Amino acid sequence: MTHMRTTLIGAGLSRPDAVDKVRGDAKYVDDLAFPGMLHGWVVRSPLPHAKVMHVDLASAFSHPDVSCLVTHEDVPGKNVVHVIYDDQPALACDVVRYVGEPVALIAATSRKVAKQAAEGMKITYEELPVVSDPVEALRSDSPVIVSLEAAAEGGGNLFNEMVLHKGDADAGFAQADVIIEGDYETGYQEHAYIETQGAIAVPEEGGGMAIYASMQCPFYVQRAVSVVLGLPMSKIRVIQATTGGAFGGKEDVPSQICSLAALMAWKTRRPVKLVLDRGEDVLTTSKRHPSRVHYRTGAMFDGTITAIDVDVILNAGAYQTLSSAVLWRSLCTAAGPYRIPNVRVNAKSVATNTVPNGAFRGFGSPQVIFPHEAQLDRLAEALNLDRANIRRRNVLVEGDRSSTEQLLDSSVGMADSLARATEMVEWNQRLEAIAAFNEQHRDIKRGLGISCVLYGVGLGGKAPFLDKAGATMKLEADGSVAVAVGTVEMGQGLTTSLLQIAAEELGVSIERIQLAPVDTSRVPDSGPTVASRGTMMSGLAVLDAARKLRERVEEVALGNGMDRSEIRQRWDEIANLFWLNNLDPAVEGWAKTEPVSWDPQTGLGDAYPVYAYACHIAEVEVDTVTGETDVIDFVAVHDSGRILNRTLATGQVQGGVAQGIGFALMEDIPQKDGFLMVNGLTTYRLPTIRDVVLDMGVDFIEAEFSAGPFGAKGLGEVPLMAAHAAVASAVSHAVGHQATKYPLEPCTVAELLRSA
Ligand code: MTE
Ligand code: MOS
Repeated sequence: MTHMRTTLIGAGLSRPDAVDKVRGDAKYVDDLAFPGMLHGWVVRSPLPHAKVMHVDLASAFSHPDVSCLVTHEDVPGKNVVHVIYDDQPALACDVVRYVGEPVALIAATSRKVAKQAAEGMKITYEELPVVSDPVEALRSDSPVIVSLEAAAEGGGNLFNEMVLHKGDADAGFAQADVIIEGDYETGYQEHAYIETQGAIAVPEEGGGMAIYASMQCPFYVQRAVSVVLGLPMSKIRVIQATTGGAFGGKEDVPSQICSLAALMAWKTRRPVKLVLDRGEDVLTTSKRHPSRVHYRTGAMFDGTITAIDVDVILNAGAYQTLSSAVLWRSLCTAAGPYRIPNVRVNAKSVATNTVPNGAFRGFGSPQVIFPHEAQLDRLAEALNLDRANIRRRNVLVEGDRSSTEQLLDSSVGMADSLARATEMVEWNQRLEAIAAFNEQHRDIKRGLGISCVLYGVGLGGKAPFLDKAGATMKLEADGSVAVAVGTVEMGQGLTTSLLQIAAEELGVSIERIQLAPVDTSRVPDSGPTVASRGTMMSGLAVLDAARKLRERVEEVALGNGMDRSEIRQRWDEIANLFWLNNLDPAVEGWAKTEPVSWDPQTGLGDAYPVYAYACHIAEVEVDTVTGETDVIDFVAVHDSGRILNRTLATGQVQGGVAQGIGFALMEDIPQKDGFLMVNGLTTYRLPTIRDVVLDMGVDFIEAEFSAGPFGAKGLGEVPLMAAHAAVASAVSHAVGHQATKYPLEPCTVAELLRSA
């Protein structure tokens, strides 16, 4: 199916939610208040692993304005943070397993009082042996830290183990003329959303609970709160407040924050607000899983890859949360966007006494993208091939099969993205210019780096039951239209793309269509707002609803003697006819992806409904005296299918590239024996405007996906995935030695220079 280019699809419309945000009219959680509202504070474990010996309840009430104290004994339902596995207690009972684990809750008339009371509370602990390194945690003599036997599928501290076997890896290596082997390591990355985690729980008349929170997945929160309170889901109403950024950090964590707020509201029968401090947020909420990857690549002299063998270890932290979903993406992405006949991947997520890690833009993919790109650069060097050429030779094209044996029968824009990106930077000439520059400069060295990525859109074979979306649409009596979906706006621009889809299909102007606030009691479950699935899945549901409504409108118009060509002009009149004649003005739209058939035994099958692709090229300047790196030019080309809004898509790319530069060059949190060495954003280095390329080149290869809305796939996460690897490739090129560890901060670059 090809679509005609119309006025709305692809247009650079600005966001309808922008005005309120810029003016300060948007209401974030901390802007909201309810009569009689209390303020909550979490009493947290100061130790990475310990027995809780005694909680002095009286000490919490040292302050007269403290209204309530909650411990695990007060939990009316199940004492868990419900995500995938129920292994994480909402409030610790006998053992704490990471620094910052919630032990008790205090609600008071002000935040300050609650905090003071928490600081004065006496809890005695007995320290237990700590394991904070995932490789050590896998040893048979390691202390076992998991809470429930059932939580560790593999026994001991091994949370999950996943395998992928395609072809015959041994035979593939036997065929190879050259084999490259490397070890790679990445550390923590903090989401650093502008707004910290926060929620307000409000007891409702009739025995229910309303939750207002900053989040990505209201229906996850609804279930989690129902489990912890022991109430049916129908009694829990979750309302998404305007959300100040999420990046995956508000996928699983809000289930915890909202459960804690709900426990305090339940006990006091009063609204309770719980908003985290920045330092508290950085220390105690999920981050990107630190990783160790061992990667072997075999290739022929001409650069054709014959086999890969990859071992991935992710540090999951003390509880499972989303680690299995994160790990699964490492498994399915390890081969990159390349045609490789023989693949073996083994991926493990491991429990340690550190903060539980969760979703972060890209899930577990950047941890394997850095290695798969570094391996190709090393292969190119070993074979004396150009780095763009070796990619050209191996990238997936239509008709190929992915590493999971999935047939890629359409919408494969990888080769075109690579061609476009190399053309935009004039790859060969640029390399020559850099060589000439480096010839003339002793201390400053330039480098050019390249990366290619594929990204499965949606949740795919790991959670096919989540790859669906609902939408409702109602024609109002005046011809305006109300639309509701259960996915959320968190800065990525989903509201705008959904309005464009609805307006385009209905033929009504965007200004007359209103997207309802997300409230689980009123909007359909559209699945979680994750995995770059929002525009594709909710977009399909909105499109389905719009088609149904349009059909109904046509029927009424024709039934009233109008001509089809008049519908647009006489739209309001038709809407009024619906109202006058008591015709049903509401429709439901529904979207489901093609059933995926992925086999966990072999790791093979159709892992995702479709893939997005990208090629990034970065140019850097490295100061060989100080070890500092400056990104001086950047080009990003993406295939996310049809681009619905070029301005917003470009914004997603620019933001993702900034986050990728941060991951490659500066973002990290040192961790020692379970303690994170950071106190907030003062000691966590983030890229600023001085670290990004203001006039970076962004372009799109629109390999239309016929099953997507107007041909669209997903984009949201992909820019970060490709960016860090291009930067690492460029730094390695500049210093003449392959980087194997993030972040490439000055001391790491100095080591590389010494090795070169
Ligand atoms: N962009 C902004 N501004 N803020 C965010 O929190 N999250 C990213 C990405 N882009 C994010 C963002 C992540 S992790 C995902 S999964 C996608 O947006 C989700 O949105 P989409 O499915 O609508 O692309
Ligand atoms: Mo994005 S990590 O899928 O929320």
